[in-house]
Amino acid sequence: MSRIVIVSNRTPGKGPAAGGLAVALRKVLGNREGFWFGWSGKLTEQPQAEARIEDIDGLTVAQVDLTREDHHAYYAGFSNSILWPSFHLRLDLATIESYWYEGYRRVNAQFAKALMPLLRPDDIIWVHDYHLIPLASELRNLGARNRIGFYLHIPFPTADALYAIPHHAELMRDVSRYDLVGFQAQRDVAAFTDFAQHQAPSTFGARAIEAIDFSRTDVAAFPIGSDPEAFSRLAASPAAKKMIHRMRRSLGDQALILGVDRLDYSKGLPQRVEAYEKLLANNPRLRRNVHLLQVAPPSRDTIKEYQETSDTLDAICGRVMGHFSEPDWSPLTYVKRAYGQPSLAGLYRMARVGLVTPLRDGMNLVAHEYVASQDPADPGVLVLSRFAGAAEIFPEALLVNPFDTDETSEALRMALDMPLEERKERWQGLMAAARTHNVDDWALRFLDRLAPGTADAGSH
Ligand code: F6P
Repeated sequence: MSRIVIVSNRTPGKGPAAGGLAVALRKVLGNREGFWFGWSGKLTEQPQAEARIEDIDGLTVAQVDLTREDHHAYYAGFSNSILWPSFHLRLDLATIESYWYEGYRRVNAQFAKALMPLLRPDDIIWVHDYHLIPLASELRNLGARNRIGFYLHIPFPTADALYAIPHHAELMRDVSRYDLVGFQAQRDVAAFTDFAQHQAPSTFGARAIEAIDFSRTDVAAFPIGSDPEAFSRLAASPAAKKMIHRMRRSLGDQALILGVDRLDYSKGLPQRVEAYEKLLANNPRLRRNVHLLQVAPPSRDTIKEYQETSDTLDAICGRVMGHFSEPDWSPLTYVKRAYGQPSLAGLYRMARVGLVTPLRDGMNLVAHEYVASQDPADPGVLVLSRFAGAAEIFPEALLVNPFDTDETSEALRMALDMPLEERKERWQGLMAAARTHNVDDWALRFLDRLAPGTADAGSH
């Protein structure tokens, strides 16, 4: 059987793997030969040509160090100040420094050079996310004829947003050199297909740009999921119960509304707190009976737009606390740190409302984890943004437009007032979808389609 080679910006570290993705891909590599390739997390003075191979908790991991300058241009620069905001339709937050593109390409070329000597001709290569769009091109330029698949974990943009990205035509040509491109949602497949069908030959200055041939690239949606059974078990574990006990001691019988998100402008955190502010303003009966807990671990905090989001959120939380708090009651807790999965599972389970309202999101696994952690006899309600990929598979959630804080506030009221029978009925639908779209099946479906003989497209 062919080996599987997984490539991503970050590689899984030592100790219990944090994310569901790392757990699922570890399982794939546990059942088949192969290895994981990516950045070591280390910055050096000189670019590193050869990968270091290590065994990390039974997993073979090949890693390269990056120079500080390249890493800045590739990660904070092109990936997270140009691609991330553009793909999330936040051109207002993009910083267009076109020289970052050179660093982005240099790192992709360095990855390809270090990976190439490790490859066998029949290895199946699975590349993850927007940091590595040019990797297949770079590998193919070095002679790789392997099956190479790409999975985009974030949304695919509309054509207009794509056109705002410097070198977008080269990037899309890079996309066309994959055998399979996987997206989170049908929405993303539609946006990609729209671009692929309508892009035409054009000129840039004096340069003629040919239309891109996507005919050999297979494209499909593979909605990612969590491991719902593992989360259910975790939510009933002693560590989760300890967290529930701790929270109950502090909250009494107040209903908990819970948000858990990286501190990222795409997550709609200020709008969410404003919706909660309206809930308290319009429903005085809820004061002292409800509490919002927002967990928001800092993310990408060297980037100005992330610092500004953090400041905005500080100000809004401060305003709501100042306005509604009383000496013996506070309407919200805002925690800027990360928690382990057992504690999170406990928080999810005791929350009457899971509030997941990104302005735009690839999938959003918090929604999956919240659903999986519920007590079937007394489940909470998921309030979910219609702009998260998860909205396509969770129609039983209360779907909201996160920009409309009146609508979100009204959904919160409905969730808090929802009778047990309706909560159970909605949760059963949600849990069935979380089981169908679990992370193990996601990985297998992608690899089955990419593996030789099973995908429609021939090898490039
Ligand atoms: O969801 C997109 C993503 O880039 C993931 O690939 C990553 O795990 C997560 O966001 C966190 O981002 P970063 O690696 O920049 O901290």
